[in-house]
Amino acid sequence: MSKIGIIGAMDLEVDQLKSEMAVSEIRTVAGMDFYEGSLEGVSVVIVRCGIGKVNAALCTQILSDLFQVTHIINTGVAGSLNAKLDIGDILISKDALHHDMDVRIFGYRLGEVPQMGFREFPADERMAELARKACEKVNPDINVILGRVVSGDQFISENSVKEKLISEFQGDCAEMEGASIAHGAYLNKIPFVIIRAISDKADNSATMDYPTFEREAAKHSAALVKELIKEI
Ligand code: ADE
Repeated sequence: MSKIGIIGAMDLEVDQLKSEMAVSEIRTVAGMDFYEGSLEGVSVVIVRCGIGKVNAALCTQILSDLFQVTHIINTGVAGSLNAKLDIGDILISKDALHHDMDVRIFGYRLGEVPQMGFREFPADERMAELARKACEKVNPDINVILGRVVSGDQFISENSVKEKLISEFQGDCAEMEGASIAHGAYLNKIPFVIIRAISDKADNSATMDYPTFEREAAKHSAALVKELIKEI
């Protein structure tokens, strides 16, 4: 039977889902509250991991070790790196990478974690396709694309940095947790997908747009997650 771990970095990314679930237990580990129970009749563990890659990696390992989740969904918001992704649109991960990993000096590609043999962590194709279908069902007016998540411990708000993330990595959206969740899920052999609604354009306007649109954007990805878990 499936048990789905749902990770959001911030309260607003998981509050809606938590308010709709039937909670059987709340366990606090590493300062994170893990809400165990069911949502839409599906067994879930919902958790706010906090911002950044370390929080996200720890949370993923805890979901694997202590809760034995069978799937992981990361929901939240992101900055757009793709002209086809406007504020309010949704990106579903094809794959994810760490844009702030740089060991080129020893011959690795920018973004490649040494000794892994690859740079991009592929999302589970079935979950990504189910997420796309769920999005078309619950958010029919919202533009959704499948693409690359690039993650780093950095809020992207400068045009020059944005351009680099596009030219170096062909990233479609930038955020601060996805690749760590992908990395942890890969090491623990857990299928995952990242779902991000666009809150800003990851450029000089980002700090203005982000507070205005984050709430609405987070709502879109939460609605999608609720539909998706029924199909997994
Ligand atoms: N999350 C939402 N917008 C972001 C941005 N511009 N950079 C990093 N993380 C984000």
